[in-house]
Amino acid sequence: VWAQNVVTFTPGKDTVTINKHIYGHFAEHLGRCIYDGIYVGEENTTIPHTNGVRNDVIDALKNLNIPNLRWPGGCFADTYHWKDGIGPKGKRPSIVNTWWGGVTENNSFGTHDFLNMCELLGTEPYLAGNVGSGEVQELSDWVQYVNFGGKSPMSDLRRENGREKPWNVKFWGVGNEAWGCGGNMTPDYYADVYRKYATFMSDWTNTGGLFRIASGANGADYNWTETLMKKIPKNLVKGIALHHYAVIEWKKKGPSTMYTDEQYFKTMKSAWLMNELVEKHSAIMDKYDPAKEIALVVDEWGGWYEVEPGTNPGFLYQQNTMRDAMIAGMTLNIFNNHAERVRMANLAQTVNVLQAVILTEGNKMLLTPTYHVMEMYKVHQDATLIPIQLNSADFVFNGEKIPAVTASASIAKDGKTHISLVNIDPTKEQAITVDVADKKYKSINGRLLTSKKLRDFNSFDNPANIKPAVFNEAQIKNNQIALKLPPFSVVVLELN
Ligand code: AHR
Repeated sequence: VWAQNVVTFTPGKDTVTINKHIYGHFAEHLGRCIYDGIYVGEENTTIPHTNGVRNDVIDALKNLNIPNLRWPGGCFADTYHWKDGIGPKGKRPSIVNTWWGGVTENNSFGTHDFLNMCELLGTEPYLAGNVGSGEVQELSDWVQYVNFGGKSPMSDLRRENGREKPWNVKFWGVGNEAWGCGGNMTPDYYADVYRKYATFMSDWTNTGGLFRIASGANGADYNWTETLMKKIPKNLVKGIALHHYAVIEWKKKGPSTMYTDEQYFKTMKSAWLMNELVEKHSAIMDKYDPAKEIALVVDEWGGWYEVEPGTNPGFLYQQNTMRDAMIAGMTLNIFNNHAERVRMANLAQTVNVLQAVILTEGNKMLLTPTYHVMEMYKVHQDATLIPIQLNSADFVFNGEKIPAVTASASIAKDGKTHISLVNIDPTKEQAITVDVADKKYKSINGRLLTSKKLRDFNSFDNPANIKPAVFNEAQIKNNQIALKLPPFSVVVLELN
């Protein structure tokens, strides 16, 4: 009997690694992401912490194996002067966070706080430099401050502030959204500015060069990518960014929990657009860089809705339902399948902002459905991609359609194969056959994420409402796996 959906392994000659950095995160000085989220300070708190960073958040992020963390923005990055955030906390100046709610930023979480936290988490920092309102010298100094082991004005200043060893930060963003909040630049102008900044961001580590990332296109702005690829010499750039949010309409984003069926479809359609964006931007990059030396870095992605009623509109605090689990599962499948070019990505954002993996309220903390998808998918990190072909049924709404099923597969270093499958159809179960070609498997087990209702979420009263469950429904016979994916569900299978 033919299933509606067929996944076929199509192993080729080339091996592609799913770079673990696809599973990166993003923490901006925005709303309650840093302050009253990740960071509760060292004084006046009863919440258990390490150097002011919540222990429960540290444990949860460690469990995700987060490979990198982008900071301090976002739009905030192009207003941020890093020297405001070093030295004795009592002496740091207070500034206004102009992009996000106009609140006072006292700079108590700065460079040392962030980089030490990354060490604690075992994650690689990704620093976004200020190009919009900063200076070349300022960014060049930041690189020297965090990366230089010898004697220099900036490394001496670092030592005065209590840190002997450099942190050796590899990932550097040269501005953010230069086409918008980062300076409203044209691509031609930004490409020239980029060349200048990148030139003076020296490699103080002498360990193979900084991984400089150019501020990338807004969604389908293909001219942006084309101009950057044409104008920036290869020795100055390792990654070109891309930002795309799953959003219904910027002026009418809809609620995060009580969305209509139509809003659900439109969100999924916008999330699915990522597939086309990645393919079209990659095709442009292929023209100038056929050897794929430059990575496509999707350093902002996720669902963006109206804020929770009664919260500060500038804080971008939203709940996270099974819709978000669908966005995460689908998007990560897209990235995995394009891993040759997409070698880094950052979900926006880590805690209490947009499609967060963690929400906090006072001393309470919860893991969102998105967290659970990232946790289930961590098996793909640095695994070898198994290319697949997929015939999917359609998810149809009002005559429009998008694929109901997405999938990706990989072989981990320990030899185990993992297949992640997502069914975004909110009402229909999907029968699936996976043809594993010449692979011989003896056993199969799986994990499932779904819920009773699509609009379910984890609340502070019921934080474990949605969590992964054991999935034993997949059968393997010869080289065929058969299973049924429940409506709005994510399944990750493990094959031995
Ligand atoms: O993630 C929120 C904001 O979205 C970021 O600050 C900005 O880069 C983007 O527009």
